[in-house]
Amino acid sequence: METVLSGIRPTGNLHIGNYFGAVKNFLKLQENYNSYFFIADFHSLTTHPTPADLHNNVKYVLAEYLACGLDPEKATLYVQSDVPEIPEMYLLMNMNAYIGELERTTTFKDKIRKQPDNVNAGLLTYPVLMATDILIHRAKYVPVGKDQEQNLEMARKFGKRFNHMYNVDLFPEPTAFNFGEQLVKVPGLDGSGKMGKSEGNAVYLIDEPKVIEKKVMRAVTDSGPTQMNQEKPEAIQNLFTIMNIVSEKGTHDFFNEKYNNCEIRYGDMKKQLAKDIIAFTSPLREQILEIAADDAYLHKVVTMGAEKARESASKTLKEVRKAVGFRRF
Ligand code: TRP
Repeated sequence: METVLSGIRPTGNLHIGNYFGAVKNFLKLQENYNSYFFIADFHSLTTHPTPADLHNNVKYVLAEYLACGLDPEKATLYVQSDVPEIPEMYLLMNMNAYIGELERTTTFKDKIRKQPDNVNAGLLTYPVLMATDILIHRAKYVPVGKDQEQNLEMARKFGKRFNHMYNVDLFPEPTAFNFGEQLVKVPGLDGSGKMGKSEGNAVYLIDEPKVIEKKVMRAVTDSGPTQMNQEKPEAIQNLFTIMNIVSEKGTHDFFNEKYNNCEIRYGDMKKQLAKDIIAFTSPLREQILEIAADDAYLHKVVTMGAEKARESASKTLKEVRKAVGFRRF
């Protein structure tokens, strides 16, 4: 079975856009691949979270992915900092990563702009750590968004460089896993673009029903159609798109017909949409809260994940140590 791997930054909660995007795809991957999913908590130290926030974020990311159906029996689900082989290999990989190429990375340049008072060395070597995450399991596929493509390119470069430098054939070339058509894009509630945390237009899986109602009722609309079968402006189309994702087909079609007949009442549509979103998120929310409160279960999951991840990582690290010339006296 081919190996696929993805890192999840523990920043913020999952929203329904994440659910129908990354999460759904992970659920498919775990059925068909030797899959590794991990929480990238070393990476998140580059932004200096407080210790309490860091711990809480890791816990919620874990609880949320588990609640959505990520299965620790099927995938290897672990916390990056539970695998000491990663920082050791990262140190070794740093020796063959050059300052110039690291400085030219767009994610580094972005970070310098975003946190000019905290341009730490961890930010500079972020791509080396990410390459290590991937190479340590000799992963073949990495599902990444556009913003991570350059980092993946660097992982390829570092792997090839190592193979070449030590004349070994240790690392396969990791490539982007392309979901193509299967990627569902959920729009936001603010009239344009997709749902996102930084856009402030998201409905989170753990949002209370009241919060969801408020968010949906506030969604951008217009004064309504004036002609039969009129094309929908983006803000309206977005509401229909979300409805198409979370509601029964009949519900969507009912409001669509109302729109086409110029009889739509956005207030009614939004009430229905809020109800359907709540019906969808409520069971997940309950699961998330239950799992997050179950320390024994979380402990079991991360312990098992770390064991499986370390088994694979230690094999690679052993080869890496051998290649560079570390020998036991
Ligand atoms: N850099 C990724 C992000 O910001 C997270 C990540 C860390 C990752 N290590 C990885 C993703 C390895 C894929 C593979 O989203």
